[in-house]
Amino acid sequence: MFEDESFFKKYSSFYVKGTLYTIFLAFIGVFFGSILGAILALMKLSKNKLLKGIAYIYIEYVRGTPLLVQIFLVFFGSNVLGLELSALVASCLALALNSGAYVAEVVRAGIKAVNVGQTEAARSLGMNQAQAMRHIVLPQAIKNILPALGNEFVTVIKESSVVSVIGVSELMFQGGVVQGASFKPFLPIVIVSLIYFVLTFTLSRVLGVAERRMGSND
Ligand code: ARG
Repeated sequence: MFEDESFFKKYSSFYVKGTLYTIFLAFIGVFFGSILGAILALMKLSKNKLLKGIAYIYIEYVRGTPLLVQIFLVFFGSNVLGLELSALVASCLALALNSGAYVAEVVRAGIKAVNVGQTEAARSLGMNQAQAMRHIVLPQAIKNILPALGNEFVTVIKESSVVSVIGVSELMFQGGVVQGASFKPFLPIVIVSLIYFVLTFTLSRVLGVAERRMGSND
């Protein structure tokens, strides 16, 4: 398998580039996904029926359809709308729109997990609903939400491989390029899988440590 000594020398730059793209995509996806997710969660928790309904439909629709299909929807949909988004921008957008729906549930669950007594106590001290949410509930909910956001980042690192189908030169795509250039079908993909594993494994160890530190402050 490794008979060609220069394999790594020849192709390592493809993997480096792909890894950087993958990290970039995951970061952008989760960052904007978190903003969208927080908004959707608040919409879903609000008393306004319309906002609630919109958030409900969005979350169920996005979670009920494959990311692969959503990527095509955004990429070709932007063309139909005359936006002509590049594959990279469309991918960032699709990942953020997808992640938002998953983060919404994370945020909603994180807020729900804070005992209602906390809100009641805040209200009895004269705070209104919004103040109680901002000063009392959210600071506690963050502790539930942050670890799950870390897991979301791990998920999106892996899921971002799907955007290779529209030609974004992330890790999976680069694996395909190396397959073609080296005439080797197997080794390039083994390397891709190892890089993904190193990324996700390292990240989840780091998250585990961070989580334990945070827990010990209670
Ligand atoms: N692979 C699944 C899909 O295609 C899951 C996507 C998970 N996304 C996320 N942001 N957690 O729908």
